Amino acid sequence: MLVGYLPPLFLSLAALVLVLVHGQLQTGFISIDCGSPENFNFLDIDTGISYASDGAYINTGINHNISSQYAYPNNPNLPYPLSDLRSFPSGNKNCYTLTPAAANGSLYLLRASFLYGNYDGEDKLPEFDLYLGVNLWSSVKFGNASDVVTTEIIGTAVSDSISVCLVNKGTGIPFISALELRPLNNSIYGTALGKPVSLVLFERFDFGYANGTGRYKDDIYDRIWSPYNSPSWNVVSTSADINSNGNGYRAPLEVIRTAAMPRNGSDRLELSWTADDDDSEFYVYMYFAEVQRLEKNQTRKFNISSNGSLMFGPFVPWYLYATTISNSEAFTGKEHRISIHQTDDANLPPILNAIEIYMAKQLDELPTYSEDAAAVLNIKTTYQVNKGWMGDPCGPKNYTWEGLECNYNVSIPPRIVSLNLSSSGLSGRMSASFGNLSSMQSLDLSNNHLTGPVPEFLEGLKSLRFL
Ligand SMILES: *[C@@H]1O[C@H](CO)[C@@H](O)[C@H](O)[C@H]1NC(C)=O
Ligand SMILES: *[C@@H]1O[C@H](CO)[C@@H](O)[C@H](O)[C@H]1NC(C)=O
Ligand SMILES: *[C@@H]1O[C@H](CO)[C@@H](O)[C@H](O)[C@H]1NC(C)=O
Ligand SMILES: *[C@@H]1O[C@H](CO)[C@@H](O)[C@H](O)[C@H]1NC(C)=O
Ligand SMILES: *[C@@H]1O[C@H](CO)[C@@H](O)[C@H](O)[C@H]1NC(C)=O
Ligand SMILES: *[C@@H]1O[C@H](CO)[C@@H](O)[C@H](O)[C@H]1NC(C)=O
Ligand SMILES: *[C@@H]1O[C@H](CO)[C@@H](O)[C@H](O)[C@H]1NC(C)=O
Ligand SMILES: *[C@@H]1O[C@H](CO)[C@@H](O)[C@H](O)[C@H]1NC(C)=O
Ligand SMILES: *[C@@H]1O[C@H](CO)[C@@H](O)[C@H](O)[C@H]1NC(C)=O
Ligand SMILES: *[C@@H]1O[C@H](CO)[C@@H](O)[C@H](O)[C@H]1NC(C)=O
Ligand SMILES: *[C@@H]1O[C@H](CO)[C@@H](O)[C@H](O)[C@H]1NC(C)=O
Ligand SMILES: *[C@@H]1O[C@H](CO)[C@@H](O)[C@H](O)[C@H]1NC(C)=O
Repeated sequence: MLVGYLPPLFLSLAALVLVLVHGQLQTGFISIDCGSPENFNFLDIDTGISYASDGAYINTGINHNISSQYAYPNNPNLPYPLSDLRSFPSGNKNCYTLTPAAANGSLYLLRASFLYGNYDGEDKLPEFDLYLGVNLWSSVKFGNASDVVTTEIIGTAVSDSISVCLVNKGTGIPFISALELRPLNNSIYGTALGKPVSLVLFERFDFGYANGTGRYKDDIYDRIWSPYNSPSWNVVSTSADINSNGNGYRAPLEVIRTAAMPRNGSDRLELSWTADDDDSEFYVYMYFAEVQRLEKNQTRKFNISSNGSLMFGPFVPWYLYATTISNSEAFTGKEHRISIHQTDDANLPPILNAIEIYMAKQLDELPTYSEDAAAVLNIKTTYQVNKGWMGDPCGPKNYTWEGLECNYNVSIPPRIVSLNLSSSGLSGRMSASFGNLSSMQSLDLSNNHLTGPVPEFLEGLKSLRFL
């Protein structure tokens, strides 16, 4: 079996009714319908999730509806949030700023969705980059105008806000249709210790699929589970309750109640996939729960191996109790094969209820030194600087704020070394925040209307060579 395609979102608009709601929110969820009319909030009956328009999270870009050919009712299965979008014809970096209740240090799942739908009438598919903070999350490309691209990332917030940035790389105007944030239990989706990574979803499969997506409210984290079955597998299932609370992963009942097992008991349950490049790193989370009440003389017991070497086992899944097994060291390489096979003393075939496969993204770039970032943000607010300053000041490296230069050094946060605000319409007194940019070498404030003497705090700037 080759795991390599992403099934489309399963949402039916036939069953979707729009209801205007006031303040009915899922705990900690941020669900944004990008490009919808200002203050337009609605409840998606299909998922029970309430979406808000994006005005509170961004102040650049232009709202559009997709062209009618791709919209409801011509496209009856279109999820409602994808019928409109926000595009960013100006600036090479435009960012949404999310400020969840407990940000710094918390683990989040973010999901971004894109449907071009020929919104601009140009019939030309754009290609652009998506960043989580200062690190590349995904390159967004489309197969055609009706292709729904959805990408998910799991990461830990490193400050009180989270920025999601769309970057124009010269191959078309970036846009976004929907953006969702879901808080996770901090103790799950662990990876190799000491390695700061984000996890980008590769595949999330529900084996022996019943009839849904498993998402909210079944899934308190609102993960979307894609059905998968193979002709060489049988389905086993239960209608009993399964305890999923024992570990933080909380697999939804609908997903964990069904499992795949090889049709021929002595066969292995095998999954394989191919990565785009040789040094891709994968983390795999496998969900197991025994769904059959076994007789005294029945034993289900198996080993799990990756590419032929034992990963975990022997393992006996517990009756009606969910367990999650993952690799603590990344699987690195191009070809990957997970194989689950019964041990010699077992007489029942192995099972697998669900799986998530994530690709690790190294967090190579660090955000700007926090005092510098706070100072320049304060300057932006004080003087209402209108230069499209969004997201992190120094990062990503090629997309620093206009008028700003930074000094980069591996493994330490970049510092702001030069600020050019000449002819920027600044007026009033000189802000003390300038004095907090302690690595600054050059400050150009010519052609503004700043009043008062040059303050003493500038003398504290030891590196300043140009004023
Ligand atoms: C999109 O369509 C809705 C009605 O379906 C309308 O209210 C809204 O103004 C349109 N948005 C744009 C940007 O044209
Ligand atoms: C559009 O592209 C997607 C993904 O590449 C594909 O699954 C779909 O069949 C295509 N649709 C059309 C109408 O070509
Ligand atoms: C975030 O938390 C880390 C560790 O708890 C701390 O070192 C850092 O200064 C915090 N960052 C911000 C912007 O609060
Ligand atoms: C989907 O599953 C639910 C509960 O398992 C069941 O009540 C419903 O009838 C099913 N729907 C279809 C179309 O099979
Ligand atoms: C997070 O998961 C752990 C088990 O891994 C559990 O003990 C803890 O209660 C969970 N926290 C929340 C808020 O659910
Ligand atoms: C099951 O697999 C074994 C070993 O691969 C094979 O010998 C046997 O014929 C298979 N049985 C069936 C019914 O396919
Ligand atoms: C298990 O025991 C039952 C009777 O209790 C018997 O019918 C069955 O064949 C046994 N199965 C195996 C695998 O020994
Ligand atoms: C798995 O084995 C194949 C050869 O059998 C090798 O090409 C590949 O790199 C291995 N993959 C991993 C992740 O070790
Ligand atoms: C399963 O793994 C154990 C080691 O944990 C090993 O002793 C045993 O031989 C393995 N069984 C099979 C059938 O591979
Ligand atoms: C940054 O720009 C340089 C030169 O323009 C280019 O070679 C490099 O690939 C860019 N890096 C990224 C991450 O876009
Ligand atoms: C990077 O940091 C190291 C240690 O702090 C320092 O020795 C080195 O000069 C720095 N490099 C640059 C280019 O600033
Ligand atoms: C600041 O930018 C202006 C043009 O925007 C330029 O003329 C001036 O030389 C710059 N100042 C410095 C110190 O580079």
